[in-house]
This record gives sequence, structure tokens and C-alpha cells, in this order.
Amino acid sequence: EKGGYEHFMLKEIFEQPKSIHDTMRGRLIVNEGVIKMAGIWDHIEKFKNANRIIIIACGTSWHAGLIGEYLIEEFARIPVEVEYASEFRYRNPIITDKDVVIAISQSGETADTMAALKLAKEKGAFIYGICNVVDSSIARITDAGSYTHAGPEIGVASTKAFTAQLTILSLIALKLGKHNGNLGNAEFMSLISELDAIPKKIEEVLEATHELTQHIAKDFIQATNFLYLGRGYNYPAALEGALKLKEISYIHAEGYPAAEMKHGPIALIDENMPIVIIAPKKGHYDKIVSNVQEIKARKGKVVAVVNKGDKQVSEMADYVIEIPETSECFSPIVASVPLQLLAYYIAVYRGANVDQPRNLAKSVTVE
Ligand code: M6R
Repeated sequence: EKGGYEHFMLKEIFEQPKSIHDTMRGRLIVNEGVIKMAGIWDHIEKFKNANRIIIIACGTSWHAGLIGEYLIEEFARIPVEVEYASEFRYRNPIITDKDVVIAISQSGETADTMAALKLAKEKGAFIYGICNVVDSSIARITDAGSYTHAGPEIGVASTKAFTAQLTILSLIALKLGKHNGNLGNAEFMSLISELDAIPKKIEEVLEATHELTQHIAKDFIQATNFLYLGRGYNYPAALEGALKLKEISYIHAEGYPAAEMKHGPIALIDENMPIVIIAPKKGHYDKIVSNVQEIKARKGKVVAVVNKGDKQVSEMADYVIEIPETSECFSPIVASVPLQLLAYYIAVYRGANVDQPRNLAKSVTVE
């Protein structure tokens, strides 16, 4: 059932070219230049007239939501707020019937997300679900939705469900942007072909980084802390990289937007601090170069995720993980894959129970 892999998590990491393809199947029709999503199309007026979109989720799904905010605001120009379900539901939030609420949940059973949705529904918001598990409680309570179709995810640490959520959010943002005229046809066409190429690029990443991440992981088995940094679209990818590591390896890890380093976390940096930094060419690259300089001046150990052929960051980094170039907005999908592998191998070498980490459950049905 693990298909020859040692753990479900590794199997699920390797399934991503296929799961992302499945998420896009029947939706992204590149040669016709269209994105078909019945859930969105049937309620397009709700989205068009929305004052704002509120994304509600927990954990990894919340990280996907943050990237969703960047995507929807950039391409559809609709204001987006992203909320932890547990915070939203207990603070008497302002919700009106002009709001569209999007819930993201792999399991579709997360108690806090469910309760937040009930509240939003009571207040008259239109609620949309992005779930992986078909016919789950959240999928059933929402007015409409899109399934991620990533297939069953067994490993407690979410991997393929996350990249599938990012794929759905990309499709929604591009569809809304095209429809409301904020996204011109040429740009739309070039973005959809880029998105269509993502499964192939993930295949390349898996091939190019599978051994490399094992080698890097071996050097960090004794680490007690990690920082993960990224900017723009890759800031939430840094949060997700850190969450993966702490969940399964029990090493303390924190994600930060790279520019926030100087507001506190830089005090932590010395020769014992590993720092994973996501630095693709597109997206504040020069700023990231200076962040890496600041880290190296304090002797931090840099693991850099860069584009193929990168020079500036690579020359300074202690470890270099190369990924293919893509549009900035899709780069977290590609960059997340080697971070999943790195967390996986660090955990495996520490002897941790990767698929069933201590204290965690696959779906959190308690409040
Ligand atoms: O099923 P959900 O997407 O609603 O779950 C939300 C979180 O519990 C979940 O993402 C959790 O953070 C994962 N273990 C992360 O790997």
C-alpha cells in the first residue's frame, strides 16, 4: 500500500507530479485558453460582487491560504483576509452577506474550521470549500466548492494536499482575474501554460533533489533549531517548511519573512543556526542576497533553495538546492518539494515516526 516507499509521507511527496496533474485535470484547458470550474462559475456573481474574501483554515491549509491571498489580490484585485479558524470563530468577527468565505481543509473535518464556517454561514456569507476528502463535513456544509483531488493523504504531515491546495487557489485567482478583466489575455495565457508545466518541473525537482536532501539532512541530525526564510509568495512557503520540520523531526523551527530577520530573529544567528532560505530569481532576489550576506556575516549555516544556474546566493550558501524557474506566483509549489524531502530525511535519520508523529492526529476533530 506504500507502493514500495518506506513511509506514506515519502510516497505522497513523490505522488505530487500526478496529484497536481489530477487537480488540474478537466479544469485547466490550455489549448482552449480556459479554466473551467463549475463551483466558481455557477456563483460568479457572488465573487464579482464580494467586498472581500476571507480565507479560513488551520495549519498547513492556513499556509496555503496565505499564498491564496497573494494570488487572489495580485490577479483578481479582490481584498483578501486570511484567518486561523480558531481565532476567527471566537472574536465576534465582522461578516456580512457581501463576504465570500473560502475554507481550506484537507480532511474536511477540522473542528475549528467547521465551527468558523457555521458562524460565517449564520451571518449570511457565501461559503466556498477547498477540501480533499470528498463528502467530508466541510464539503457538505459549504454552498459550493472545488475538491483538490490529490487522492488519500495518509501521512500526518500534509504534503501533496498542500501543493494541490496551491494549485486550486492558483486556478481560482487566474479565473477570477480573467473574468473581471484585471488579468489581460496575454498574461493569462502565459500563466496558464506555466501552471500546466508545474507537474513536469516537480518531477525534475524530485529527481534532482532526492539524494541531495539526504546528504544535507545527515549534517543536521543534531540541530536543535532551524530558521526558514522567504519573501513574497515564498514567505508562507517558509512557514510551511518550518512546520513540516517541527512536526515530524521535533526540531524547533520557525518561519519568517526574510525582511523580519532584522526585527528580532537575527539575534539567534550563530554558527549553530541552520537557515533555510528560499531565493528564486523572480521575487525580491536582490533583497534576499543581502539577507544571506547578513546571515553569513554571523556565521549561520545557509541552505539555499535557488534557481538553476544561480550564482550570487549559491556562492555564499553552505548547501545549494536548485529548482527550475517558474512564475513567481507558482514558485512556492516547486520550492516546497525539496523542503518536504529535507524535513522527511532529517526526521527519518533521527529515528522519528514520520507518518504518525507524537501528539498529532491526521484530522483534528477536537476544539
Ligand atoms: O485537514 P485540515 O487541512 O483542515 O488540517 C489542518 C491542520 O490540522 C493540518 O494542516 C496540520 O497542520 C498538518 N498536520 C500539517 O502537516
